[in-house]
Amino acid sequence: MKSPLNKIICGDVLEEMKKIPDNSIHLAITSPPYNLGKNYDSHNDSMKYEDYLNWLEKVWIETKRILVPGGRFALNIAPTGIKNFVPIHHDFSNQMRKIGMTFRTEIIWYKQTMLKRTAWGSFKSPANPHIVPSWEYVLVFSKDGSRLDGNQKDADITKEEFMKFSDGMWYVPPETQRNGHPAPFPEELIYRLIKFYTYKGNVVFDMFGGTGTVAAVACKTERKFIHIDISKEYCKTAENRVKKIISQKSLSSFRK
Ligand SMILES: C[S@@+](CC[C@H](N)C(=O)[O-])C[C@H]1O[C@@H](n2cnc3c(N)ncnc32)[C@H](O)[C@@H]1O
Repeated sequence: MKSPLNKIICGDVLEEMKKIPDNSIHLAITSPPYNLGKNYDSHNDSMKYEDYLNWLEKVWIETKRILVPGGRFALNIAPTGIKNFVPIHHDFSNQMRKIGMTFRTEIIWYKQTMLKRTAWGSFKSPANPHIVPSWEYVLVFSKDGSRLDGNQKDADITKEEFMKFSDGMWYVPPETQRNGHPAPFPEELIYRLIKFYTYKGNVVFDMFGGTGTVAAVACKTERKFIHIDISKEYCKTAENRVKKIISQKSLSSFRK
């Protein structure tokens, strides 16, 4: 089986992941649909919670299969619901440990979105006040041990970046350029994960790739990528984004 390197693949996650060889991905990064009833182009985001978890568990099992030994999985998720709190991040962590992934760390992605808040619960009273999540998590797991083999000359993180990113509280504002998608990643979040957890030339994968933020940043940082999403519209956006980066890169190498 040949790995579909540097491909934007439009299709169903479980169908398409079957086509990726074992032990071929160094870093998987994703943000799955949160099952919050968001208006995605081609996905029902209001599944029964149990069905939702069972579906994603199959995706995590495939992810483990395709990671190289020491490969990492950075899973972005947040507890959903303010009034009816759903600790979805705990359920994912338990699933991941059940399938034998090592839980390495959790990064707090602090989004500082408190300015827009309206859901106070009982304002200025302990009767029933609400905490509003102004953060998300990036849960980091690894397969078969923690060490990722690679050549030190391909480690391209700077000293300043390493010191900054190794503090687990990351202040990264949410993406404002949405490209017609309800929940895109900010590039800065992905840049940090790729630089911190991979060597140049490694393969980075997003199985719910949306508008292609992971693919785009992988391209910019000289990593290979594989992108899957079920929506033709989002895949088209991802493709255009990647093409633009590649043509800018080849233009700048031509100018040198
Ligand atoms: C939270 S979004 C990811 C956004 C992405 N991180 C970005 O930066 O644009 C989840 C994505 O999962 C995709 N999706 C939902 N069901 C899918 C399925 N069965 N197979 C593949 N992709 C699916 C949706 O189309 C959506 O783009």
